[in-house]
Amino acid sequence: MRISSIKLKNYRQFKEAHIEFPDGVIGLVGLNGTGKSSLVEAVAWTLFGNIASRTDKEGIKRTGASPAEPCEASLEIEIGPDSYRIVRALKGSSQTGAASVFANGKKIADSVKGCEKEIAHILDMDFKSFYTSFYAKQKELNALSDLNPNQRKDIIIRMLRIDAVDRAIDRIRAESRDTKKIIEIRRASIKDTTELESLKLQKEKEIEKASAESGSLFNKISAAQKRENEFKDIFSKERKKYEDYNAQKIELSKCQSRSSELKKKSEEIKALVARIDSLETELKEIAPQAQSYEEWDLKDKQKEELRKSEKDELFKEKAELKEKVGKLEGERGSLEKIFKEVRSKKNVISSSGKESKCPTCGQLLQNFEDIIKHYDEELEKITAEGKAVAVKKKEIEAKLAEIDLLIEQLERSPRKKSSKRPKYDFEEHEKIKTEKEKAKKAKDRQIELKAKIERKKELEDSLDKTGEELSSIKAKIIKAEKDLELTDYKKEDYEKINKEYDEARADLDRLKQKKNAFDIEKASLQKELEAIVREIKEAQDLKKIIDKELKDSEFLSRLEDIMIEYRTHLISRIRPQLIETASYLYRELTDGKYTGLDIDEDYNMRIFDGGYPYPLTRFSGGEADLANLCIRLAISQLISARAGTEGGFIILDEIFGSQDIVRKNSIMTALNQLNKQFRQIIVITHVDDIKDTFEHVIEVTEDELGISSAKLL
Ligand SMILES: Nc1ncnc2c1ncn2[C@@H]1O[C@H](COP(=O)(O)OP(=O)(O)OP(=O)(O)O)[C@@H](O)[C@H]1O
Ligand SMILES: [Mg+2]
Repeated sequence: MRISSIKLKNYRQFKEAHIEFPDGVIGLVGLNGTGKSSLVEAVAWTLFGNIASRTDKEGIKRTGASPAEPCEASLEIEIGPDSYRIVRALKGSSQTGAASVFANGKKIADSVKGCEKEIAHILDMDFKSFYTSFYAKQKELNALSDLNPNQRKDIIIRMLRIDAVDRAIDRIRAESRDTKKIIEIRRASIKDTTELESLKLQKEKEIEKASAESGSLFNKISAAQKRENEFKDIFSKERKKYEDYNAQKIELSKCQSRSSELKKKSEEIKALVARIDSLETELKEIAPQAQSYEEWDLKDKQKEELRKSEKDELFKEKAELKEKVGKLEGERGSLEKIFKEVRSKKNVISSSGKESKCPTCGQLLQNFEDIIKHYDEELEKITAEGKAVAVKKKEIEAKLAEIDLLIEQLERSPRKKSSKRPKYDFEEHEKIKTEKEKAKKAKDRQIELKAKIERKKELEDSLDKTGEELSSIKAKIIKAEKDLELTDYKKEDYEKINKEYDEARADLDRLKQKKNAFDIEKASLQKELEAIVREIKEAQDLKKIIDKELKDSEFLSRLEDIMIEYRTHLISRIRPQLIETASYLYRELTDGKYTGLDIDEDYNMRIFDGGYPYPLTRFSGGEADLANLCIRLAISQLISARAGTEGGFIILDEIFGSQDIVRKNSIMTALNQLNKQFRQIIVITHVDDIKDTFEHVIEVTEDELGISSAKLL
């Protein structure tokens, strides 16, 4: 595997970065905290997602990026002849994950789950194995020698991916267990075939018996059917006779009832015609009275007119008189007023006596008596005028009463024969009205009678028709009675054959039902037989499956043994190889000062000095660190050699910590020589003085806002 390039957006402290990775030894340099480790961690995050991150999900996106800006990474890698592009992002305020994978330019996955599956398939490892194979983490190297031997053994075994063999063994064991369990369950459910076979034989016998019964009934049914057919013919002939007889009887009764209907109708018409004759006499009698109607009507109208005109006149007179009464009342009122004035003047003077003064000028009155006399005359005159007015009013009121009387005579009272007014005679008018009413009734009756008489012809025609129909019906009745006498239908014969036919039919039905019951029994037995046959087949199939699974289980047990042997073999072989490779590197890096490294069977680490192995504690910190680095490099070398692929890449994070300048240079020389085993060696360092010794340099810097950028120099 080779890393071609990575593009980042808002990943940790990187706002935007695009780095191409060349082949060879690449120095990833920069000051502490600029983002060197983050850059290579971005490779693991793009491949494996949040699980491969050193922080939780919230710590991945760049602090300071707005919620609308996504955190994105696009990684290009090469494996053999194929190139892959993996794109991963965290989007929106809830940082929803998204991912897609492209193989040779073609999209092969488009979801987080889908990518997880594809990446596991492409790399054949999870993120833990990825880190142990390709990435020597900062501080991890020192940790190797600080561990106790057992822990060291575990970690070396994990680094060498022997844990993959362990996992395979576990899977084989689990599968073997499952297979055995399934076999047990299947064995418990498998049915006994001998028992099933004997049950099958029994069912077959029962079916044969039911078939035989059904067959014998078939013959009986044929005979009964024949008999039923014969009876059916005879019966249908008898039935025909019966129906004919019935039809004739119905026809006869219809004719009879029609005949009586017609007779009744004819009687009714005759009665109507007779009534019409008497109506003609009545018509003649009422003719004169009916004719007088117009005359009475005219008289009535004339009287009505007279009454109206007289009434109008009387009302007019009445109004005029009422007006006069009003005027007289007015006159009387003014006279009363004058009378009161004169009387009060007289009273004033007469109460003062002869010394009284003139009420107008205040002078002493000279002629007191004359004045009193004058007032008395005046009062007398007014009283006389008042009486005259009262007499006139009474006269008019008498006239008004007379007019009311006359009006009453126009409305309801009889007129006094002697008087001239009114001319209208109420009684006479009432008589005219009575006569007119009688004439009206006669006229209406005349119209009614004429209409009835007009129907006479129609009735006579109908009477003729009824007579004709009646004689034809009589002829029909005679014929029908004759036909009935001649018919050969006999009730007893008909009932007898009907009974016999019913019995034949019932017999046939009974036989059919019996046969049907056998047929149903046979069908259900056949179904049971089929079920048994199916069960036998299922038991046989299950047996075959169990046999196969038994073979599988055996195979899995053998495989487990082989894998355990393989693991032992691997561990026993790998330790010498590891010692050899690490010793070579250590010799080279110490310029032959130390002859090699050793890892004993208990995984204790030792350094050879002058042909003798000594524990690491005897040596300086830098020498011990170098020993660790050599073992780590040897592990990665072994992994890529075992994978059988062309050299991959390795990332070494801060390996120079404790080394002096001479060591640093020899480490660099050694790394440059590892190009056969590793196509890309990415060395992360904050140490600036070895920058120039790298074949390629990627520089990581941070600006004053804390935003980092990286570029290949
Ligand atoms: N989400 C983030 N947004 C912005 N900055 C972040 C984020 N997460 C971590 N950082 C910053 O990134 C830096 C850590 O980066 P990193 O470990 O990659 O540095 P380094 O270059 O490897 O340093 P050293 O040389 O010390 O190992 C820290 O300064 C940390 O504050
Ligand atoms: Mg770092």
